[in-house]
Amino acid sequence: MSKSKVVICEHPLIQHKLTFIRNQETNTKDFRELVDEVATLMAYEITRDLPLDTISVRTPVAETEAKVISGRMVGLVPILRAGLGMVEGILKLIPSAKVGHIGLARDHETLLPREYYINLPTDAHERLLIVIDPMLATGGSAIAAISSLKQRSCEQIKLMCLIAAPEGVRAVQEAHPDVDIYIAALDERLNEKGYIIPGLGDAGDRMFGTN
Ligand code: PRP
Ligand code: URA
Repeated sequence: MSKSKVVICEHPLIQHKLTFIRNQETNTKDFRELVDEVATLMAYEITRDLPLDTISVRTPVAETEAKVISGRMVGLVPILRAGLGMVEGILKLIPSAKVGHIGLARDHETLLPREYYINLPTDAHERLLIVIDPMLATGGSAIAAISSLKQRSCEQIKLMCLIAAPEGVRAVQEAHPDVDIYIAALDERLNEKGYIIPGLGDAGDRMFGTN
């Protein structure tokens, strides 16, 4: 199978807001608000290829044919914790999406993810699922989340992250060549602790004010 598509969302508004998200001086409240706003803007890009149906509609002056999004239903699957911060922003554009959750934590020594929670809509396998996480570092968490969804018969999956390391993109493409990846920035590399350089630090800690 050929490699999946990687889309870098280069819209100036996304890039501008991402700079303030990266800045270590940005406080928790502003960090949350900016992540929420970027998620909304990225949702616009990730839904670009949703199929449309044509319906009849009566305007105040004429009958016409117009487009509506066809029956394809969307599900959001944030990876806990940090993925939670992107959910509301996407729901602003897709309010009817259902939301499942996957809890994964990276072991700080091995960098391997451990699944501690999963709860999906019962019809998840019929939906286009968007897996959400601000950071794609080694790719271990995203790969595990997508594998978990596939084990539950989910087949239509996209991945949305704010910042990715080249190592993580390659790993996801190898493990899941059918899953397109949407990111706001492709950074330089990982450091020896598995942090993205330059990145934004620990996304969960910055989102929730922990450390
Ligand atoms: C962070 C981040 C991703 C993961 C990325 O979560 O939100 O889920 O690391 O790293 P990877 O690509 O190397 O797997 P973390 O495990 O720190 O959990 P948290 O969201 O609860 O802070
Ligand atoms: N997880 C984070 O939160 N930040 C990184 O840079 C890498 C993994």
